[in-house]
Amino acid sequence: MESAEKLQELKQKLKEINAGYAKISQLTTEEKAKFGQEQNRKKQEILFQIEQLEKAELDKEVEPIDVTAFSGVNEPLPELYSAEMGSRHPLMTELDRVIEIYQMMGFDAMESRQLDDEFHMFDSLNFAKEHPARDGYDTFRTEEGLIPPAHTSTMQHRVLKKYKSKLDEGKAIAVVVPGRVFRNEDVDATHEHTFYQCEGVYVSETCTMGDMLGILREFFEKYYEQKLNIRTQPGYFPFTEPSLEFMIEKPKSLGGKKGDFLEMLGCGMIHPNVLKMAGIDPTKYHGFAWGGGIDRLVMLRYGLNDVRNFESGNLNFLREF
Ligand code: DAH
Repeated sequence: MESAEKLQELKQKLKEINAGYAKISQLTTEEKAKFGQEQNRKKQEILFQIEQLEKAELDKEVEPIDVTAFSGVNEPLPELYSAEMGSRHPLMTELDRVIEIYQMMGFDAMESRQLDDEFHMFDSLNFAKEHPARDGYDTFRTEEGLIPPAHTSTMQHRVLKKYKSKLDEGKAIAVVVPGRVFRNEDVDATHEHTFYQCEGVYVSETCTMGDMLGILREFFEKYYEQKLNIRTQPGYFPFTEPSLEFMIEKPKSLGGKKGDFLEMLGCGMIHPNVLKMAGIDPTKYHGFAWGGGIDRLVMLRYGLNDVRNFESGNLNFLREF
């Protein structure tokens, strides 16, 4: 504050000096030269002082920050946090639960990638070139043109190719793909630029949409440990036909009222083009797929209302788990 006042004072002086120049027209040539020199000298001196003061202020502001400093909660800073004091992130624990439920139903699990390419993000999923549906998945890009994926569906093509030999053995492809995804979002309590999804892919000779709804119901009822009312409505995804949005009625035990349906994921019958691109004959085999956010799933289970907590490193939040 002190230096701010001093700065103010110097600026005022500078103003007075500048105003003083008006007098010059009333002086003789000789006097003008002397007056001018004197004024300029004073002005330079003030300008120098101002510059010094501003520099000092700036130096103060950019004092190096200690990035290891403790800033989470209002308690004394311990010497250093040791690894033993850390714990697993709640999302990872929940993700394990999710995978376990699917594994009990016979699904394999395969982790998604955090950097992918145009082909897996769009082309392999039947997004036509230049199609506006691509805009719905606004994510980031590296300078080399790689894409931090906006959804775990980028893995569908790999899953189909990797597991298609199962079909020849007369078995089904049944795989879930948990993973971290990224979107160019305006971040708020319900939108994050980084979050988690879990994808499911099932292909066999005889499967139907009814099987898909059965699997999804089973999953949500296991995860929330109770019977649930479910509902679907038509949706649109280029990689499924038909496409659905899958909803559950928010349970009373989790603060829901009757008719309070929440959209939990997108799903549908895998588009024949997606199967074909992976070398699977769509006239012989059918498949369904689904994908939904893990953060949202966990938030409902624990009554959380701000998705930003998951990525915040806020220790108060993390310690609640
Ligand atoms: N990937 C979609 C999204 O993030 C969700 C989705 C919809 C996944 C339909 C699917 C699917 O596998 O079949 O919006």
